[in-house]
Amino acid sequence: MLLQILTLFPEMFNGPLRCSIIKRAQEQGLVEFRIWNFRDFTTDKHRTVDDVPYGGGDGMVLKPEPIISCLKAVQRDNPPGKVILLTPQGELFKQAIAREFAAEEHLILICGHYEGFDERIRAWVDREISIGDYVLTGGELAAMVVSDAVIRLIPGALGSDTSAQDDSFSENILEYPQYTRPYEFEGMTVPDVLLSGHHARINDWRRKQALLRTALRRPDLLKDLSLSAAEQKYLEEKLNETTFGNREEVK
Ligand SMILES: C[S@@+](CC[C@H](N)C(=O)[O-])C[C@H]1O[C@@H](n2cnc3c(N)ncnc32)[C@H](O)[C@@H]1O
Repeated sequence: MLLQILTLFPEMFNGPLRCSIIKRAQEQGLVEFRIWNFRDFTTDKHRTVDDVPYGGGDGMVLKPEPIISCLKAVQRDNPPGKVILLTPQGELFKQAIAREFAAEEHLILICGHYEGFDERIRAWVDREISIGDYVLTGGELAAMVVSDAVIRLIPGALGSDTSAQDDSFSENILEYPQYTRPYEFEGMTVPDVLLSGHHARINDWRRKQALLRTALRRPDLLKDLSLSAAEQKYLEEKLNETTFGNREEVK
């Protein structure tokens, strides 16, 4: 995948791109990053990227010309890319969108700044993405979040291609509780079923824990899950015996 990022702060990407799975994915040739500073596409001697808003108001607005000239340059000589604008007004970023993006050959992420960008930029954009209902200073952190979530889903990026399958949200369900050694820590022990070596029982326990955890923490996700009659009964029973305020994991 070719992942191109248009930003006023290329240096912000130095750290995240040089660590862990993202670094390894680049070394393996699974993803190539190209970071562009759209200030380099200004034509005036002050390299102006922003201007006051028409109609008045606080702050500065990103001008369309540098961003669109930069976009045209990054699209030249490459297979057409999906252009994504990072904006708090966009579609909420979810695992399903990360999966869609992971199947693309070429993504172009545009990071806004200041009060945002001239509305006309939207005519060049395929998709608008928000990473949450809050306002960041700029789109850079959002672009890093999107890139990270997407790259780990490219086949080969994780040690094992099944690693992402059980992650929270991969099936609209939160992940089950995980434990590692030691068996006992500060008086708390690991659920015995996980030491049983009995895979069917372990899978059953994990599925139930994941369902219960989702019901307690993210009931909004449950409506998109198809549950068996037995699973529904299990959840109803557990939720009845779990009073509010004591709604932590049930063993
Ligand atoms: C300070 S924000 C501008 C917010 C704009 N005035 C508004 O209300 O929509 C500057 C830039 O940060 C980025 N940004 C801020 N919050 C974001 C979010 N939740 N998701 C994605 N990008 C965000 C966008 O690129 C935005 O153009």
